[in-house]
Amino acid sequence: MEPLLETHPEAGEVLRVGGGTRLEGTVRVQGAKNSVLKLMSAALLAQGTTTITNVPNILDVKIMSELLRRLGCDVVYDVEAGTVVITVPERPHHRADYDLVRRMRASICVLGPLLSRCGEADVAMPGGDNIGSRGLDLHIDGLQRMGAHVVNEHGYLIATSDQLHGADVWLDFPSVGATETLVMAAVLADGKTTIDNAAREPEIVDICTMLVSMGASIDGIGTSALTIEGVDALHPVEHRTVPDRIVAGTWAVAAAITRGSITIADANPDHLHIALDKLISAGASVRSTGDGFTVSMDSRPKAVDIVTLPFPGFPTDLQPQFIALNAIADGAALVTENLFEARFRFVRELARLGADVRTDGHHALIRGREGLSGAPVEATDIRAGAGLVLAGLVAEGTTEVYGVGHIDRGYAGLVDDLRRLGARVERSATTAM
Ligand code: UD1
Repeated sequence: MEPLLETHPEAGEVLRVGGGTRLEGTVRVQGAKNSVLKLMSAALLAQGTTTITNVPNILDVKIMSELLRRLGCDVVYDVEAGTVVITVPERPHHRADYDLVRRMRASICVLGPLLSRCGEADVAMPGGDNIGSRGLDLHIDGLQRMGAHVVNEHGYLIATSDQLHGADVWLDFPSVGATETLVMAAVLADGKTTIDNAAREPEIVDICTMLVSMGASIDGIGTSALTIEGVDALHPVEHRTVPDRIVAGTWAVAAAITRGSITIADANPDHLHIALDKLISAGASVRSTGDGFTVSMDSRPKAVDIVTLPFPGFPTDLQPQFIALNAIADGAALVTENLFEARFRFVRELARLGADVRTDGHHALIRGREGLSGAPVEATDIRAGAGLVLAGLVAEGTTEVYGVGHIDRGYAGLVDDLRRLGARVERSATTAM
């Protein structure tokens, strides 16, 4: 069962990754971190017991479980079974405290459901990944159009409304978080809401699908124009979390960078079109299997240019992994990051392994090297951690990746999976000074 939140062992650990092994075998992908947290929060919209399956064993699920408990829910997270069972009271509490929200930015996803269910939501301004400013203006502007009064006081967003009403909202940018907040607010609002320029990531489709099975009326799912007709009440359901396309994409790069062959099971290649196409351009072969796909590579990768964009564009959450790939590729690649300005911080760490990367604003120029050399490096966020582990797999000698807690936030059972595929990797406590 779920270990206590206070005793999580990630702090002060290091991953030692031995370079030079070709990865080969099969790996299973769990449910998506970026979906399950929102599905858990959507459970707040219906009184009673909601069950979520295909739940990954990651720290963020424990944090979200604790947040929901503080809101008055009974939450049972069965790590082995991969389920979270959430029993929501008739009237949840409406305050999400700073001590949890600062540990996980995704906590902001309780804002919409709490406002709809309680008429008030006090949510601490989030912290989370160290990858840029990440505003909330689109969330706030949309809620205000739906009749909410929103103020920022003493580090908390305080939103109130007697009854939200439908509105026409046009997002300046197809923000994943803002689309989720507004959909969850609109499903119980009075009347019709339209969201134009909505995000259409597979995780948005997943939450909309769950909401529809709870009794919501949503049209245009999977497109950038959503129409939501508010209903009086929703009912609890059982829902299976969509596979984690970013974890699947990370394994795909692992196959390509180590010139190996990995079958990625329980994954949907349709959610990774551009990323897999880039791997094919780099020289990999990609084959669909019944419930996933196989990526194989038998030569040095060719450099590939990347431009990150909202779905269906190339995902920013795979950008560090592809920079690692380009670091050992044949040729030079230009990577453009359009979503999170601070994501290139990871490049400084990659340079410690001998990578030749220059950044200028939101562009990075990577000149591929024949090889990298192992060194101690620090993961600064989840995906930076993944990029460094991938680079460590091909760097000569041993790469020590610190900041393992970041990696644990997104990759369940990473060490076991890597070992099964043939990698030399171990995880241990750092020695105290
Ligand atoms: C989610 C994902 C994250 C992924 C990102 C983009 C979760 C928990 N995280 O983050 O892994 O990298 O989508 O695919 O699901 N913005 C504003 N104002 C707003 C909202 C967003 O300016 O009100 C900006 C952000 O600063 C950022 C960009 O929009 O530059 C993208 O943000 P958004 O799509 O909202 O990402 P998240 O939901 O934070």
